[in-house]
Amino acid sequence: MDTRIINFYEDGFKDCVNEIRENGVVVFPTETVYGIGGNALSPQAINKIFEVKNRERDNPLIVHVCDYDISKYVKNISEDSNKLIDKFWPGPLTIIFEKSSIIPYETTGGRESVGLRMPNNEIALKLIKESGCPIAAPSANISGRPSGTNSKRCFDDLKGRVKFIIDGCESKIGLESTVISMINDEPIILRPGYITLQDIQKVLPRVKMYERVNEKILDENPISPGMKYKHYAPKGKMVIVKGNMENIKSYVKQEIINHKKVGVLCFKENYKFYREISEELNLVVVGSKSDLNEIGKNLFESIRRFDDLNCDFIISECLNEDFSTAIMNRLLKAASFNVITF
Ligand code: TXA
Ligand code: MG
Repeated sequence: MDTRIINFYEDGFKDCVNEIRENGVVVFPTETVYGIGGNALSPQAINKIFEVKNRERDNPLIVHVCDYDISKYVKNISEDSNKLIDKFWPGPLTIIFEKSSIIPYETTGGRESVGLRMPNNEIALKLIKESGCPIAAPSANISGRPSGTNSKRCFDDLKGRVKFIIDGCESKIGLESTVISMINDEPIILRPGYITLQDIQKVLPRVKMYERVNEKILDENPISPGMKYKHYAPKGKMVIVKGNMENIKSYVKQEIINHKKVGVLCFKENYKFYREISEELNLVVVGSKSDLNEIGKNLFESIRRFDDLNCDFIISECLNEDFSTAIMNRLLKAASFNVITF
């Protein structure tokens, strides 16, 4: 199968709309990350998404809508759910509701609940509107890999597996949406994202963060299936370091001896520190510690840079989890929760 990269402003966009109408899949941009989309109401389209992405069938897909009237897709829209919709849609917040019978179990990984979100991206909204159906879409990457945040990275992962990738430049946010469950009208954040606990507390003071979001989850049936799978990993082994910088320096020197090619994911502030350890280190600057939005935007692209550089071992700096829960959530998963404290 040939994979075409489509410019939204040219003719190919119509082909993408037809592809969705005919139960095919299309990679498209959103403000968070790119998605692999298909008709959320069509088991045939949904099966293709799981195949293309090599995704575990019990891991439910997020359903993307372009309209505020979601009553066809869900049961029980509480007053508090409406508050979230009013405040955060269109935007990076996925809300989990009890599903209606129109949503097939293929889409929800067999669950009675469904996650809905209205993306804040012109191309995504137009694709949903013109296709005439809600679009189910997981992030555009092979399962386990970092999410695609530009059309080139989506192409690297998915060439030959999808017919169309709509180009929409770099994703503005770069991290996937915050996922909040409103099941039983109990607001609980299952995946941290750009919209923080504090942002949601301003609308729903009783909201809680699921206490294990940044823990390694081995349960057979966790509250959100995505938690138990490997995510965001570069090809080389990755570890996160924290603590005393002099001890970190000795550790890095030792790992340069132990491995063929060592990479460091570092903040702007510490570039010189690592450069002075060795010219041999492959440094990727993810952003400045004082600008979380910049780090979020660059994170997945930076992790993928280590694959371009063929690094077999990657050492990553870390942030204080209290004020960067979402970024640390992705980094911890990329490193399979391997953290060394010096
Ligand atoms: O920003 C995003 O959310 C992107 C863009 C494309 O919209 N999508 C995305 O999808 O990140 P995905 O499939 O990579 O992640 C969806 C996460 C998974 O961890 C999944 O387990 C969880 O949301 N999820 C979806 N529906 C759920 C449900 N009904 N109950 C519990 N967790 C759910
Ligand atoms: Mg994903």
